[in-house]
Amino acid sequence: MKEPKLIEAIGVDKQFGDTKVLRNCSLAVDVGETVVLIGPSGSGKSTFLRCLNLLEPPTGGDVFFEGRNITSDLRHADRIRRDIGMVFQNFELFQHLTAAENIMLAPMRVLGLCTADAHDLALDLLKKVHIPERSDHYPDELSGGQQQRVAIARALAMRPKMMLYDEPTSALDPEMIREVLDVMAELSADGMTSICVTHEMGFARRAADRIIFMEDGAIIENANAADFFGGLVNERTQRFLDQILH
Ligand SMILES: Nc1ncnc2c1ncn2[C@@H]1O[C@H](COP(=O)(O)OP(=O)(O)OP(=O)(O)O)[C@@H](O)[C@H]1O
Ligand SMILES: [Mg+2]
Repeated sequence: MKEPKLIEAIGVDKQFGDTKVLRNCSLAVDVGETVVLIGPSGSGKSTFLRCLNLLEPPTGGDVFFEGRNITSDLRHADRIRRDIGMVFQNFELFQHLTAAENIMLAPMRVLGLCTADAHDLALDLLKKVHIPERSDHYPDELSGGQQQRVAIARALAMRPKMMLYDEPTSALDPEMIREVLDVMAELSADGMTSICVTHEMGFARRAADRIIFMEDGAIIENANAADFFGGLVNERTQRFLDQILH
C-alpha cells in the first residue's frame, strides 16, 4: 500500500468575514521533505501554515495528517499541535523562565516528564542547537539568534513529527541569521519534515526539496528545487524573485 503523505492540504480555503485569504490551496508533503514557502506580504503564507496545524480552522477544504482528516474534527487540534512544532518570527519565549525552563515546560505539563528527565532533555536539545552553555540564561540575556534557537529547541521538546517555521530569521540582525538557518538545515538533513516560510534563498538552495510560491491566497508554483534553481519557474514567480533578489 502507498504510504500516506505526512501532511496533505486539499483545496484549503480561508475566509475572514468577506475577505478570502486562501483560495483552494493544495500541498502534500512527504516524510523527510523540506519545503520552502515564499510569496509577497499578505499573500497568505502565515495563514496557510496556521491552517495546517489548525491554529486557524480552514473555512473550506481538508487537511490530512498521516492520512487522517484533521479538519473534520477539531478535537484533533491539541494532538496535532503536539505533532507539529511551530517557530515564529518573534521567538515568543517566556521571559521569566530560563532557556532550559522554557524547553522543560511543555514536556513536563503535557508529556508528564519529571523535572530531572525534562532537564536532561532540555540540555540535549540545547546541545543540538549549539548553545548548551546558555541553559541558565533568561531570554533577555540571550542574543536574538540564541533566543530563536531556544524556541526551536522548545518546539523539538515535544518530539514533533514535523516543523513549521514562519519567517524565523526576519527579526534577526544579519550576523545572527546564519546560526539559525544552520540549525534548521541540520534538522532537515537529519530527516525532520519541515515547511519554512523564508525568503533566505541561500537556505532554500541548501536545504529545500521543493519551493512553493503563493500569491493572492493561491499556490501559484510548486517546483522541485532542481527545477526551481535551474530557472524553470513561471513568470509570476520569476518577477517576485527578481524583486527580492535585487
Ligand atoms: N485574523 C485575521 N483577520 C482578518 N484578516 C486577516 C487575519 N489574519 C490575516 N488576515 C489577512 O489575510 C491576508 C494574508 O495574511 P498572512 O498574514 O497570511 O500573509 P503573509 O503572506 O504571511 O504576509 P507577511 O509576509 O506580511 O507575513 C492579509 O490580507 C491579512 O490582512
Ligand atoms: Mg506572514
